Order: sequence, then C-alpha cells, then structure tokens
Amino acid sequence: MSELTGARQVVLVTTRYEGKDNIITLAWHTPLSFEPFLYGIVIGKERYSYALVSKSKIFCVNFIPAEMKEIAIKCGTVSGRDIDKFTAFGIEKEECKAIDCARIKNCLGYLECKVIKEVEVGDHAIFVGNVEREEYIKDGKRLYHITNSLFKSF
Ligand SMILES: Cc1cc2nc3c(=O)[nH]c(=O)nc-3n(C[C@H](O)[C@H](O)[C@H](O)COP(=O)(O)O)c2cc1C
Repeated sequence: MSELTGARQVVLVTTRYEGKDNIITLAWHTPLSFEPFLYGIVIGKERYSYALVSKSKIFCVNFIPAEMKEIAIKCGTVSGRDIDKFTAFGIEKEECKAIDCARIKNCLGYLECKVIKEVEVGDHAIFVGNVEREEYIKDGKRLYHITNSLFKSF
C-alpha cells in the first residue's frame, strides 16, 4: 500500500503511563484542525503504545532529523513491552512542560498533546490530540518512509 500512497514523514511518538516511558515510530499522523490546534496519530491496536496512550490520554509527537533513521527503525521494530527503548538505544530524554511525558532531546520540534477523542478504525485507532504546547526548534532534513526497505530524506 505504501508504494501507492507515497512517502510519509517518520516521527517518534513518546508516551508515559504509570511512570513508564515508551517510544513508537509512526508514519501515519496528520494535522487535523487549526483552531483548536488538533493533531492525529494512528496506532495499531496490538501495539504497546496503543495501550499506553489509550490509558494515559497523552502523547508527544517528536519531529526527528533524518540522521535518526537507525533509531527510528529500532523503535519501530521492537516493543516497549520487552525493553526500555530510551535505555536500550541510548536515546536522551527531556521532560514535556504541558503534559506528564518525556520527549526526545535533539529533535527538530515537538507537539505536546492531550487526547480528546479515540476513534476506532479497523485494526488501528486514531488518537485526536489537542496540542497543549508546541515548539519548533530548528530546521533540518526529515526522514520519509516509502517501504520498509526504502526511505528518503529531504
Ligand atoms: C518507518 C516506520 C513507520 C511506522 N509507522 C507506524 C504507524 O504509523 N502506526 C503504527 O501503529 N505502527 C507503525 N510502525 C510500527 C511500530 O513502530 C512498531 O510496531 C513498534 O515496534 C511498536 O512499538 P510498541 O509496541 O512499543 O508500541 C512503524 C514502523 C516503522 C519502522
């Protein structure tokens, strides 16, 4: 399907529930509304992150530079059920300010979101997040997913 739908920007979404931090790699995410500023993420229901976001009602969208490709692939192939991805992959964290969640240091910018709605869509769910805080830190090349073996950066 992704050969047809084309390149999609890869982001890392951080979550926290009962003190446990996790990271999931996502290519399915989108702005939804200017006013209020709403941002949507799409997560498979079997993912550990699905359970975390569903319970905590918070998430942070971290826009990563292209050079974080290997980190994105690692965070997108193993589950936080089995490991602490921050520790295992040496990813530095900082604290969000508007939500109780970690965010990724050295990203290009981020959106701190509170879930206002969960929409079931087949085997995935869309979490609609109200953007409580946003920061654009710096410009930089982004990473785009086309297929699991084909990425582009620009
Ligand atoms: C480039 C890339 C993009 C991905 N995009 C999504 C996505 O949009 N939605 C999703 O549910 N999983 C996506 N995945 C798969 C999850 O990141 C992967 O299943 C991950 O291990 C789930 O981690 P968790 O169990 O800790 O939540 C993607 C993986 C990669 C490598």
